[in-house]
Amino acid sequence: MTSKFKTIFFIIIVTILTSSFILKNNLIDSYTIDELRTIYSSGDASKWPAPNLHEDIAEGYIEIEKLPKIKHPKTNPYSRAKAELGKHLFFDPRLSASKQVSCASCHEPQLGWADGKRVAHGDLQQTGKRNTPTLINIGYAKSLFWDGRAKSLEEQAHGPIENPVEMNTKMETAVKNITDIKGYAPLFIDAYGNNEVTEERINKALATYQRTIKSTRSKFDLFIDGIENEYSDEEVLGLHLFRTKAKCVNCHNSPYFSDQKFHNLGLTYYGRFYEDLGLYNQTGKKEDVGKFKTPTLREVAKTGPWMHNGLIMDLDGIMNMYNVGMARPKRKNYEINDTLFPQTSYLLEPLKLSKKEKEAVEAFIKTLSSRTAGIEIFLELPKN
Ligand code: HEC
Ligand code: HEC
Repeated sequence: MTSKFKTIFFIIIVTILTSSFILKNNLIDSYTIDELRTIYSSGDASKWPAPNLHEDIAEGYIEIEKLPKIKHPKTNPYSRAKAELGKHLFFDPRLSASKQVSCASCHEPQLGWADGKRVAHGDLQQTGKRNTPTLINIGYAKSLFWDGRAKSLEEQAHGPIENPVEMNTKMETAVKNITDIKGYAPLFIDAYGNNEVTEERINKALATYQRTIKSTRSKFDLFIDGIENEYSDEEVLGLHLFRTKAKCVNCHNSPYFSDQKFHNLGLTYYGRFYEDLGLYNQTGKKEDVGKFKTPTLREVAKTGPWMHNGLIMDLDGIMNMYNVGMARPKRKNYEINDTLFPQTSYLLEPLKLSKKEKEAVEAFIKTLSSRTAGIEIFLELPKN
């Protein structure tokens, strides 16, 4: 009995030792996982292994790193009073026609500043065509909306206020509604010196407030800043794959995890019910059909469903789609000579990631969320 026990014990020990030896020497691009952990958490991104970039992307590539300080434009400098006014306006449904819909109805702080819906539901529950993007870190965005049709937050605000399926009003009506609320006067005086309510003042205050909506430090930020135990082995592997074999950094790069460019992922639904021509609607150029702005991946785990049309319900699904090189719709006979037929980006091709590798990339993108479990905004809106 004892000798049988000894043999079993011996076999268990040998199995543990050999498997840990195999695991330790399971090299990824000639690195062990411990070496990758040390390099990536060294605090010096110039020591990281080279990213796997297409030659068109290599020039001007900006590494994924921690977020720099936000810049407020000279034409609309930061002031606390202006941000405070903007915050009240952001949460105030009285900017809308029905006085029922505020910016926060769709950009809900507790839902990652998005709305958790496939597409937005606005005034009188009318549905829009596109998924609501998060506003976290929006101060870093160079253009706004999925098709980049607004160039600044100041310019952007009238969009949702006037959009018939969002707040469904006219800027003049919004200005009048706010002027009529006496409780706003002190906020305008603090921000601008007098109580005059104008469209420009509303837009500037909303923009200033939105530039204050930022992620706190995520697991990723802590890990690359030197806290080496912040990541599991799987997350270390995921970070490395994100920059190398999975090629995600070709588009999701810079501290904002977006190249701020437009790409076609094959989701145009050309000629079908969900058709959305994206950037083409702005530029009229045939090569822009079906291109959408690369979204930030910071906080992305909180902002599903995903993509411009909100048709993707889970991150596994996204990984499976990237792994096969995304969708490449085929032309039907009658589309052979159609010059608008959308072209999926040449930057996407099958990745040959194993199941374990796909899971690692997914585990990594989940580390881009900051820890705040739920943000609650306490605010009393000004009275009439
Ligand atoms: C009915 C829901 C809804 C309301 C209300 C709403 N938004 Fe949005 N928001 C959206 C949708 C949907 C988009 C994407 C539209 C597109 O790309 O065509 C968007 C896009 C944005 C963007 C661009 C984000 C990016 O990544 O490019 C900003 C900024 C923004 N909204 C701010 C606001 C502000 C400020 C208000 C209030 C004045 C507001 N939104 C009200 C649904 C809404
Ligand atoms: C060719 C550029 C490109 C590459 C490479 C790329 N992405 Fe994207 N990604 C985009 C664009 C553009 C969108 C939005 C497309 C749309 O809605 O039609 C997007 C959307 C996403 C979304 C949904 C975000 C949201 O808010 O809806 C996730 C998650 C994502 N990508 C992860 C990845 C991962 C992981 C990789 C690597 C396997 C990767 N991407 C590679 C350009 C790219």
